[in-house]
Amino acid sequence: MATSPLPSSLLTTVLVFSCIIFFIFPAITESQQTGITRHYQFDIQMTNVTRLCETKSIVTVNGQFPGPKIVAREGDRVVVRVVNHASHNITLHWHGVRQLQSAWYDGPAYITQCPIQKGHTYVYNFTIVGQRGTLWWHAHISWLRATVYGPIVILPKLGVPYPFVKPYKEVPIIFGEWWKPDTEAVISQALQTGGGPNVSDAYTINGLPGPLYNCSAKDTFKLKVKPGKTYLLRIINAALNDELFFSIANHSLTIVEVDAVYVKPFSTKTLLITPGQTTNVLLTTQAQYPGANFFMEARPYVSGQATFDNSTVAGILEYENPKSFSSSSFNKNLPLYKPTLPALNDTSFATNFSKKLRSLANVNYPANVPQGVDRQFFFTVGLGANPCPQNETCQGPNGTKFSASVNNVSFILPTTALLQSHFSGKSRGVYRSNFPIMPLMPFNYTGTPPNNTFVTNGTEVLVVPFNTSVELVMQDTSIIGAESHPLHIHGFNFFVIGQGFGNYNPVKDPAGFNLVDPVERNTVGVPAGGWVAIRFLADNPGVWFMHCHLEVHTSWGLRMAWLVLDGNLPNQKLPPPPSDLPKC
Ligand code: C2O
Repeated sequence: MATSPLPSSLLTTVLVFSCIIFFIFPAITESQQTGITRHYQFDIQMTNVTRLCETKSIVTVNGQFPGPKIVAREGDRVVVRVVNHASHNITLHWHGVRQLQSAWYDGPAYITQCPIQKGHTYVYNFTIVGQRGTLWWHAHISWLRATVYGPIVILPKLGVPYPFVKPYKEVPIIFGEWWKPDTEAVISQALQTGGGPNVSDAYTINGLPGPLYNCSAKDTFKLKVKPGKTYLLRIINAALNDELFFSIANHSLTIVEVDAVYVKPFSTKTLLITPGQTTNVLLTTQAQYPGANFFMEARPYVSGQATFDNSTVAGILEYENPKSFSSSSFNKNLPLYKPTLPALNDTSFATNFSKKLRSLANVNYPANVPQGVDRQFFFTVGLGANPCPQNETCQGPNGTKFSASVNNVSFILPTTALLQSHFSGKSRGVYRSNFPIMPLMPFNYTGTPPNNTFVTNGTEVLVVPFNTSVELVMQDTSIIGAESHPLHIHGFNFFVIGQGFGNYNPVKDPAGFNLVDPVERNTVGVPAGGWVAIRFLADNPGVWFMHCHLEVHTSWGLRMAWLVLDGNLPNQKLPPPPSDLPKC
């Protein structure tokens, strides 16, 4: 390797600047030096937005869609003052932020807090510890995250470089889904009838559907680039219900980070990203001005049998013509190349892609995989049904109502926050601590479905002592058709130590576990008709939601909560709630 590429002039500037800082703040202590506090004001308000030739009123933050970007450095404190001016109750979740000792600010409605009601304010306040890369924030109540979401950019600590080439520019790319109708009506109607909800009308890139949809050419995301440069794309899947393939014509992408953890870089033409996941990629532009434009496209990966939005969102990669100095340096009348995306049901792509993801696992960024295990859990995840109430007709499977469950328990949200009940010692009537550690009635999970497809319904949590080393196998079921489920755990990153198809075999499968450099993340796709094994250290006291990040499955009950008890030391305890914690 060559020596430090830092030009001496820049070095001087940095040195001079740090001297000035030191001169102004001579009394900075060691602990204060670790970060600064970044303040944001988020006003929840209704805003009219026009897409696909129709205008509708949507819930936004500060009138922006997608919402504002939060930027912080590793070690910084982030303070977000949320004022709700809308008549929808709301909460915000900082997806992937570890929330060490700050469970009260995690955000899932009725898990860590009651919703912020109209006219009320809640100040979220958390520190970003040991994470760098891209995460995102979104509303965490009902389906409001359809329009209430935005990026969280976590830069490395000052003076710490990326473990890859310094990008010329960084660009967030957020995928979303757009519905013509009101999404709150879509889900409440579906829950009423028991049928599947209507699917979206378009996918979006940074809120824009792009030229493949009716009257949307003017609503196209354009990435304007210079030849011979490296761009860092911070890709986020904020879609409600769809895993997405993404590709840029005639360009390859180098994956360098997922879920705010660095990975061993690898190059690919196409990536797959589930709702909830984030992926940072390097895009190196062609060395010479190509005299062409390139589509970047995203469309779904679908493994289940339900109807889905099979449309494609496109944005355009445009090269700046170095020979042209006018505004026409971006020429529209150029050849346009389109990428080839995998087939909509290409499960083997999904498998191969997820197997390529490995932690960077070097001296600076070790993979601290728990080598020993204190508790093993086995959860089935999948769809099921609830009986149709008498005198009603239902539109779910065979006249029932669609449901979804973990270990056959379909989780019912309480009407008060679990974390509050736990902290105040008043769990009676709110939740029970009897979440099954394995299926009560084992069956052939991926074989012929059992006769009884009904779930049980309840609010059950799984209690684990502080610092428990957890191994969890999540097994998809084929009760109402096998399907991939992106499972997200709040408050923790976990290591994905193994995956496979069919039923998990506890005797044979552990031999293949990767305990050296497994990918570390907060959301993982449980393969359709298969299983995934993860490990994490339960080092964060609080109540932590775990759910499928396909919003329809969460609504149907594919969710549960972990209750991690306090440790003995003062810094191992859940602090008391903030005074402005919303009341139910
Ligand atoms: Cu991205 Cu519980 O959420």
